[in-house]
Amino acid sequence: MSWTRGSLMAVLSSCWLQALLQTAAAAAMPRVVKGRVNSSIFLEVSFPNITDQVDTVEWKYASPKTRRCIVQLISEEEKWNIHWFSGYSQRARIYPNHSLSIQNVALNDSGTYSCTVTDWNGDEFTEDVIVTVIGVSCVQAPKETYRSLLPSSLKEAQPTKP
Ligand SMILES: *[C@@H]1O[C@H](CO)[C@@H](O)[C@H](O)[C@H]1NC(C)=O
Ligand SMILES: *[C@@H]1O[C@H](CO)[C@@H](O)[C@H](O)[C@H]1NC(C)=O
Ligand SMILES: *[C@@H]1O[C@H](CO)[C@@H](O)[C@H](O)[C@H]1NC(C)=O
Ligand SMILES: *[C@@H]1O[C@H](CO)[C@@H](O)[C@H](O)[C@H]1NC(C)=O
Repeated sequence: MSWTRGSLMAVLSSCWLQALLQTAAAAAMPRVVKGRVNSSIFLEVSFPNITDQVDTVEWKYASPKTRRCIVQLISEEEKWNIHWFSGYSQRARIYPNHSLSIQNVALNDSGTYSCTVTDWNGDEFTEDVIVTVIGVSCVQAPKETYRSLLPSSLKEAQPTKP
């Protein structure tokens, strides 16, 4: 809990996100997604209030250290122009409902991911997903898991005396 609070405070201090939060003041608390190093994460968003046709979709990444654009979709004559940034095309996918998946995550993929959808009226909708990537050191008690997998006969086995 304290992690979430702390990092939330950190991103709140960026005026960029503050602006976003002001425009989306009514939005619920962001989702929190946990992933392990080298695994995939799925960043789910849903925009129930969008009724007009979607014009642009944009995913951005922000951490206290850095921020960058991930992908931009711009609707153009019945099709989508997709622009990927920062090498995400190699390991990310965007779905028709604007959700994003990222493969092979590293510790430095932790941060806040924001999806902004603009409709033909120019109205903007933003949803945030907070991602925490944990490394192997956080894996709990591998010894216990191993022990519990052993047949009990092996667990209790003692060297036999002649
Ligand atoms: C969005 O699409 C993905 C892939 O088709 C699906 O797994 C996910 O449940 C969808 N999420 C929502 C909120 O519709
Ligand atoms: C959707 O619109 C309703 C009614 O205007 C509002 O109460 C609600 O907070 C909105 N939901 C989101 C996710 O913006
Ligand atoms: C994040 O970490 C991965 C793996 O350690 C590394 O390959 C990558 O260059 C790092 N990316 C950034 C932006 O620092
Ligand atoms: C992640 O993948 C890299 C490269 O394949 C490997 O060196 C590293 O040990 C893996 N880390 C974990 C926690 O699985």
